[in-house]
Amino acid sequence: MERFHGVFADAKVAPRLFFAPGRINLMGAHLDYSGGPVMPMAIDRGTYLAIATRADGRLRLASLCEPEMFEGSIHELPVRALGRWYDYPLGVLTRLLSERSAGAGLDVLFGGDLPVGAGLSSSASICVATSFAVSACLEFPSSTETHIEAALYGEREFVGVQCGIMDPYAVAMARPGHLLWLDCKDRSTELLPIDTQAVHIAVVDTGIRRELAATEFNRRVAECQSAFEKLAQEVPEATCLRDIPRAAVEAGRARLTPEEYRRAVHVAEEVTRTFRARVALIDGDLAAFGREVLTAHASLRDLYEVSIPELDTLVAVSEEWNGFLGGRLTGAGFGGCVVLLVRSEAVAGFEAHLREAYARRFGRRPRVHFFQGDAGPRELTRSG
Ligand code: GLA
Repeated sequence: MERFHGVFADAKVAPRLFFAPGRINLMGAHLDYSGGPVMPMAIDRGTYLAIATRADGRLRLASLCEPEMFEGSIHELPVRALGRWYDYPLGVLTRLLSERSAGAGLDVLFGGDLPVGAGLSSSASICVATSFAVSACLEFPSSTETHIEAALYGEREFVGVQCGIMDPYAVAMARPGHLLWLDCKDRSTELLPIDTQAVHIAVVDTGIRRELAATEFNRRVAECQSAFEKLAQEVPEATCLRDIPRAAVEAGRARLTPEEYRRAVHVAEEVTRTFRARVALIDGDLAAFGREVLTAHASLRDLYEVSIPELDTLVAVSEEWNGFLGGRLTGAGFGGCVVLLVRSEAVAGFEAHLREAYARRFGRRPRVHFFQGDAGPRELTRSG
C-alpha cells in the first residue's frame, strides 16, 4: 500500500488490494482452441493489484515491474493495442466499459510474483485480476463469466493473440487441491481433487523467453483450423478438430500438409490421453496419470513441435529420478517452464538432481518452485 502512494503521490482514496493466480496445465496440451478437454490448475503465485477510484475521470495504470505508465481519460481509451504491458488491462477495461460507463477514474498499480512469458499465464492472471478489481471498485455487477469474457477480449481482440479459453477459466475458477476439468467444446467444468499430500508439483523455469512465441502460437492455431477444414468431410457431425478421431486423420492424410498432419495427430491422441488421465485421477492412480502427462510432452516435442532442448532435458533428467511420476512443458512452449509431478516421499534431493543435471548441459542452475493450488481471484484487504 505504501508503494501505491509512492507511485500515485496525489491519490486521495485509500487503495483496495486484489489478487488473481497464475496456472499450470497438466493435460489437454494445446487442445483448448481445438475444442478439446483440458486439465489446468491454479498456482499460489499471480498478480497483485492495488486500485483506488479518483474523481476526475483519469485512468492511470502503473506496474512495479515495468517503467512505463499509462495515463489518459477513462472515457476515451485507446482503440487499439499500444505494444506495451498495459495493453492487457486496457483491453479488459475496454470490454467492461463497452457495457456501462465508469462513474469515476481509477489509479491502478500492478505487481506480482509470476514470471512473465514463462507459460504460467501471467497474461490471463493480469486480465482476470483487472476485471475482478475494476468491477468491484466501480460497483459493476459481475460474475466469473464476466471476468473470463473480459480477459478473453483483452487477449484476443485487443492484444491479438488467438489464445484458447483455458487460461482465464483456470485463473477465475481455481480451487485449492483441485484440477479444473474444462471441456472447451461446450464449456462444461468440473473440479477434480488431486491428492496434494501424495504428490508434489514442481515448476522449473528454463529462463528462456522467445519473442516468436506469439507468432508460432498463432501459426499452430491456423494449422489446426486448416487441418479441421480439410478433415471435416471424414466426420460429417464434427464441429472442431477435437471431433476428428485418429483414424479419420489417417483417412484424410493425403489432403493435409505434413505439419497439419502432425498437429492433427497430436490433437486426436491428446484428446484420448486427457480422457484417460481424467479416469486415472478420479481412480487415485497417480502413476497412470503421470504416464499420460509424460506422453503428452513427447507429443508436444515430436508432433506439435513446440518444445526446445532445455525443456526436453528437464523432463528427461526427471525421468532418471525414482518417484518421478511425469512431467511436460506447460503453457504454449517455445521456452518457459516444465511442470513435474513427484511422489512426496521421493522429493528430497530431486531439486538438487535437476539443478546439477541441467547445469552440466547448459551451464546454469534453473530455479525450481513447488507450488500449492490457489483459491482464485479475491480481495485481500480493504485498507482504511
Ligand atoms: C497458451 C494459451 C492457452 C493454451 C496453451 C497451450 O497458454 O494461452 O490458451 O492454448 O497455450 O495449451
